[in-house]
Amino acid sequence: MKTLLHTLADGEYHSGEELGRLLGISRTAIWKQMQKIEALGLSVESQKGCGYRIIGGLDLLVERKLSDHLSVASKALVKKLQLESTVTSTNELARQQAEAGDASGIVILAEQQTAGRGRRGREWISPYGSNLYLSLVWGFDGGVQAIEGLSLAVGVAVRRAAVRFGIESLTLKWPNDLLWEKRKVGGILLEIIGDPAGFCQVVIGVGINVGMPKVHAKGIDQKWSDLSQLTEERVGRNELAGVLVDQLLLLLGNYHEVGFAAYREEWIRYDAYANQPVKLLLMSKEKEGVARGVNETGALRLEVDGEIQAFSGGEISLRGAE
Ligand code: BTN
Repeated sequence: MKTLLHTLADGEYHSGEELGRLLGISRTAIWKQMQKIEALGLSVESQKGCGYRIIGGLDLLVERKLSDHLSVASKALVKKLQLESTVTSTNELARQQAEAGDASGIVILAEQQTAGRGRRGREWISPYGSNLYLSLVWGFDGGVQAIEGLSLAVGVAVRRAAVRFGIESLTLKWPNDLLWEKRKVGGILLEIIGDPAGFCQVVIGVGINVGMPKVHAKGIDQKWSDLSQLTEERVGRNELAGVLVDQLLLLLGNYHEVGFAAYREEWIRYDAYANQPVKLLLMSKEKEGVARGVNETGALRLEVDGEIQAFSGGEISLRGAE
């Protein structure tokens, strides 16, 4: 299947005969393979006399291409770069490796997730070959205290990666969504493995909508957008992944020393909900107030009846608007 997908990635027609020769299988077997490709959600067209093509082509992840976009410093920090086709969830795979031992520096990317995980038990819609699904494992001494504010800082790093593609318009929604005009473009999911007071490993999962196919977007239960709508330039997935890994490693390399303090100002500058009336959804209750940025630990500052209260958990939505 991999060879077939890489051949069809150019979006051009390829005859059944040519493909059969390439793979050493019959034309009927190729036809069966094409059905499997369609089952991935890709738009396959078959035309008499021309053969098969994937409409619009594919920008598949390729290790060599991705590595070309990694800095020398990052290459030294990446323990393993794992590119997968279909997985349940890159976070799940990363977690398994972290549970088995020190997985610090492992980076996993997949073309598709069948059980992509979002925050608060939500599903992360992860169609084949169109967006970015990445998990990176990093070890920290000093337990959860050492990673205070990390998920917000990761949001800043993802935003910085987008800026490298000329996309300056992404904003941040507490605690760690990436938005454009209040529409979700990316999400971050951190999972912690190990000793909350000692050595722990953090799985940093990042999902970025790059070119969400409309047919899959139906399953998204909130306002969304993707990078293809924010720039005229085509954002290459390998390049984006490389730049993103660079930014994440730049952050992780000294986070234990600088902490969230080094990212707070930038987070506040791009706060999508600054000074707006919001509703904070907590475990079992809701709290209304005005969003007043974040404190030095990354907790949300909510003004309630003229007083600032800090919250480190939950999720916000615009009061009345969402
Ligand atoms: C959110 O709800 O905003 C967080 C979404 C995080 C999605 C990413 S995609 C890569 C990684 N693997 C997962 O299963 N989830 C994260």
